[in-house]
Amino acid sequence: MIPSFFCRLQTLSRPPTVCVIAGDDAAPEVMRPTVEILRILVPDIRFVEALSGREAHEMYGDEFPDATREKIDTADCTLFGASGGPSRPVLWYLRWGKETFVNVRPVLWYPGYRSPMLHPEYIDYVIIRDNLEGMYPPREGDVSELGALTSSKSWWQAPPKEEKHGAYAVRICTDEQMYRLAVSACELALCRQSAGYPGIVTLGAKYSILPRTDGRLRTIVKETVHTYPSLSYQEFLIDDLARRLIASPETLDVVVLSNEHGDILADVASGSIGGLGLSPSACYGERYAYFEPVHGSAPDLAGKGIINPTAMLLSGAMMLTYLGYTEQGKHLERAIEQIYRAGVGLTRDQGGTGDTMKFVEAVVESIVSMK
Ligand code: NAD
Ligand code: IPM
Ligand code: MN
Repeated sequence: MIPSFFCRLQTLSRPPTVCVIAGDDAAPEVMRPTVEILRILVPDIRFVEALSGREAHEMYGDEFPDATREKIDTADCTLFGASGGPSRPVLWYLRWGKETFVNVRPVLWYPGYRSPMLHPEYIDYVIIRDNLEGMYPPREGDVSELGALTSSKSWWQAPPKEEKHGAYAVRICTDEQMYRLAVSACELALCRQSAGYPGIVTLGAKYSILPRTDGRLRTIVKETVHTYPSLSYQEFLIDDLARRLIASPETLDVVVLSNEHGDILADVASGSIGGLGLSPSACYGERYAYFEPVHGSAPDLAGKGIINPTAMLLSGAMMLTYLGYTEQGKHLERAIEQIYRAGVGLTRDQGGTGDTMKFVEAVVESIVSMK
């Protein structure tokens, strides 16, 4: 699932250390069993738990204590549940502090996933998203400040008059970040191509209306793809691409998106395979990586024991590949695939009557039976 380009730690001469941060609301309910399953698959990995959010506040008086930062820094990578607000400073650190500049979100349907699509069997592509720029982290201010910008003189609509009250948000796109996003997308497409995929990089952006930001992203991605002779390039305006995720997902291979477009369309894509309980993700940088599901902290499910652990487990499989345990990562993916194919032990979001632990037990049985 992951290209060798993203397997940066294969040369480790000692067993890896993974920092585990469960996160908020229902996220710990999928993190705990995931770590147990990863331990069965690779007993060598040293898992170090770190507190965040409310628990950290109770123990250290800080939602993101130094102890947690140190555990992140000294680990080879981090496995993160989700933030429901209190753990957000940790998420911020994992992205901007550790400069994990791309977010890879595979969109793959397994038989048995409860997809609303007529032909989900054709859904097999990867979203690669800018993880650092665009609208996040928030850079907001008062509209009255805008008139001071030199560029505002050339705006099609002048900045609002000073007597108007309101706010603005700044969207940043640096060449460095757009370029490394483009290169990562191409490397990912090349890797998939060697496994039989067509080698198509698709850009989705609003380049028609935003020439300086999305237009520049378009130029950089297009030019970068053209330096890879075996790859081909296609582009769609972001609104049309949203339609294509539903109407013709079979035409997609590697999809490059800005931060906020990627955030939104990853949830759309997740819906197309059967829901947020199924979608894993990984965030990679030059020196660090962390792994988290696409979904959030699912506060509506907290304490019920019914949250689907598939997305968290598959994020764990992506982490195993990153750490060089490719076979064990595949083993976990195959075990999950087998359960959905059999349709036994599924959680409610997938039409089953089971709960989180019933699904986890099925995964363990499947892993053992496949050994
Ligand atoms: P959410 O992804 O938590 O939940 C959306 C819907 O999907 C809910 O109905 C939920 O029950 C369902 N769902 C999510 N994960 C599921 C799973 N594993 N199994 C079954 N159903 C699942 O999104 P939200 O409700 O919009 O946001 C809740 C909080 O999570 C917010 O604070 C948001 O900012 C945060 N969030 C954090 C991250 C992250 O930490 N990376 C990602 C997305 C959202
Ligand atoms: C995600 C989340 C985050 C994002 C939030 C919590 C900042 O929605 O990881 O998909 O928008 O990146
Ligand atoms: Mn999101």
